[in-house]
Amino acid sequence: MSPFKELLAALKTDTLLQRDSAETLYAQLASSLAEAIRSGALSPGERLPPHRELAGELGINITTVTRAMAVLQEQGLVESRPGRGTQVAVPRQVQVQFQSAPSDAPGMIDLSVNRPATDDYTQALATLLPRLASDPRFAGMKEYHPSEGMSWAREAAATWLRALDVPAQPSNVVITEGAQHGIACILRAMTVAGDTVLADSITYQGINALCRSLGLNLVGVEGDERGMNPRALGEAIATYAPRVLFLVPSIHNPTAITLDAQRRAELLEVLAPHDELWLIEDDVYRPLLERRDETFMLRRPARTFYVTALSKCIAPGLRIGFVVAPPEQVQNIATTLRIDCWSISPLNALIATRLIEDRVSEALIAHQREELRERQALLAEHLKGLHFQASDVGTHAWLQLPEPWSASRFARLCREHGVGLLPGGAFSLRHDQSPNAVRINLSAAKSREQLVQALDVIARFAQQGHLHMFDRV
Ligand SMILES: Cc1ncc(COP(=O)(O)O)c(C=O)c1O
Repeated sequence: MSPFKELLAALKTDTLLQRDSAETLYAQLASSLAEAIRSGALSPGERLPPHRELAGELGINITTVTRAMAVLQEQGLVESRPGRGTQVAVPRQVQVQFQSAPSDAPGMIDLSVNRPATDDYTQALATLLPRLASDPRFAGMKEYHPSEGMSWAREAAATWLRALDVPAQPSNVVITEGAQHGIACILRAMTVAGDTVLADSITYQGINALCRSLGLNLVGVEGDERGMNPRALGEAIATYAPRVLFLVPSIHNPTAITLDAQRRAELLEVLAPHDELWLIEDDVYRPLLERRDETFMLRRPARTFYVTALSKCIAPGLRIGFVVAPPEQVQNIATTLRIDCWSISPLNALIATRLIEDRVSEALIAHQREELRERQALLAEHLKGLHFQASDVGTHAWLQLPEPWSASRFARLCREHGVGLLPGGAFSLRHDQSPNAVRINLSAAKSREQLVQALDVIARFAQQGHLHMFDRV
């Protein structure tokens, strides 16, 4: 029996479609088909029977089938073409390695990894290291420590976070090995395999990788030039009954959008009746901003996990992040972290604490902003006339490619000419749609001169797309 016939048989025997369930028939049909597609039981390109035929086979109304197919189409799992019916979507997303370090291949300017633009952390570290041995906390470097973090590190973190207007107290901060680790701890503590997580349909790759590894169903919510669309969020909540919403409100990766106060308020209004939904507010770029809107955590303290880190504003090599959790969830997060590694390294925590206490962090971040401003100005000058989104203190920019470029082709050509970029498809949660854009990490260039060299290549190709179409793929 073909996989589709097998599925049909299961649907017919009511094991998958339950007419007396509180869940609508179309939602049940959509989730059974989605599961068959995601598990690979239905293969990319496989034709599905016409809606009328399927409705007849299952003894249900044709509008039920049509609504289920619309949900699947929205998720990018099926495609409908006039005259060709509906088929399981063929993933068009370019397979991009989930990479964490820039390439150091000779001649390559790799702008595909998000890192800070300055190197003065290593200088600050060189000055700090000889002083650490006389720090009263140094003796504790040989010990195990509480999983939520050392009390002095939580104290310093809360002070630093409050200066960013994040409602943190030492007792609700958990110290992690960076933001990604914080998000992993939250997801592992608050979800079980099969739960649904919502995120922007174009989003940070790390959430995608995490959800896959934890067996979570990650669904994209459409947005516009101001970020996630509140109406689309409401619909996605109604359709998928998600457990978690993942948002990157400041200098979004990769689109560089910062949610304005009005959009934040609109999204909060949609979330208001949904106490069952946890929000992960991944605000790893907030420390770079000078003008900051209210955090979601401030307005929704009981249902929000706030995550940030020193990775983008000081140094990713420090591996220090902070989760601010609702008080009754702190121990859940700490327990998950304990399962990983008992606690983070006290030496990293002491370095971060001293940088904060000695106010060196302030100077490092101020310099970071200054360098990013200069680089963003270079980008604006070199990409003049092209359509891109950026923040004046952002580590990255999102360049929309003019016709007739395809993002993967463009990224490949730039790579062949010594410039590494990530194409839009690497960030898309919809496998039937790849944004025709590339992310440029201007902070990853080793110098402004290198950045200008790379921008020259990018601008030249973007403006001369028609000359490079002879071997278009
Ligand atoms: C939105 C977002 N969250 C989290 C991270 C990971 O940060 P960390 O290095 O602190 O784990 C990144 C890194 O690119 C990011 O862009």
